[in-house]
Amino acid sequence: MHGGNTISLLSKYWKYNRRVFDIMNTALNLSPRPATMAMKKTGKKNIVAVEVGVFYGDNARSILRTLDIEHLYLVDPYKTYTCGGFEVKIDDKILKEAKRKLKPWKDKISWVHKYSDIAIYEIPDADFIYLDANHDYEFITKDLSLYYPKVKVGGILASHDFKCFHLGVIKAAVEFTNIHKLSLNAEPDDCWMVKP
Ligand SMILES: C[S@@+](CC[C@H](N)C(=O)[O-])C[C@H]1O[C@@H](n2cnc3c(N)ncnc32)[C@H](O)[C@@H]1O
Repeated sequence: MHGGNTISLLSKYWKYNRRVFDIMNTALNLSPRPATMAMKKTGKKNIVAVEVGVFYGDNARSILRTLDIEHLYLVDPYKTYTCGGFEVKIDDKILKEAKRKLKPWKDKISWVHKYSDIAIYEIPDADFIYLDANHDYEFITKDLSLYYPKVKVGGILASHDFKCFHLGVIKAAVEFTNIHKLSLNAEPDDCWMVKP
C-alpha cells in the first residue's frame, strides 16, 4: 500500500473515532474535571469563567453543562504552536468543530482569538479560570501570574495536565503557590488554588 493511502486511511479512522468519542461523551455525560467539580462545590451561581486553550471545546462544554455559568470567555488563537519540542498543528476545522459543539450556549460565550498574554486585556474579573493552553514551563508560569489577579476573592484558578508527562505544569504550579503562600489542590489531571 502507498504511504499516501495509509495516511488517508489513518486520517479517516481518526475522524471516525473522534465522532464516536464525541457521541459517547454526549450520551454518557462523562464526568466533569476535578477543578470544575471544586468550583461546583462552592455553590456559586452566575459564574463568570474563562478557559485559556479551548481546542475542540470538549472541556468548555463540560464547564457549561456543569456550572451555573453567566458567561464563559474562551481564549485561543487557533494557531499551530510548539509544546514540549513538538509542533501541535491547529487549523480552522478544529475551531469550526468547537463552534459547532458550543452553539447551544452561543449567548453565554465570548471568543477571544488571541494568545493568552494579549487576551488578558479583554478578560474581566472571574470566578473560575481554567488554564489549558501551552504546557511548557515558561508559558504556564506566565499564564498563572497573568491570570491570578483576574480571579475574584473566593474564586478558583486551575490548570489542566498536572501530571508527570507535563513536568513544566507541576513545577510552575508548585512554585506559584509557594510564592503566593496558597494551598495547592490536585486530583488527576487538574490542580487548582482558591484565592483567599
Ligand atoms: C490542550 S489544548 C486545550 C484542550 C481543551 N482545554 C480541552 O480540554 O478540551 C491546547 C489549546 O491551547 C491553545 N493555545 C496554545 N498556545 C496558546 C496561547 N499562548 N494562548 C492561548 N491558547 C493557546 C491551542 O491552540 C490549543 O487549542
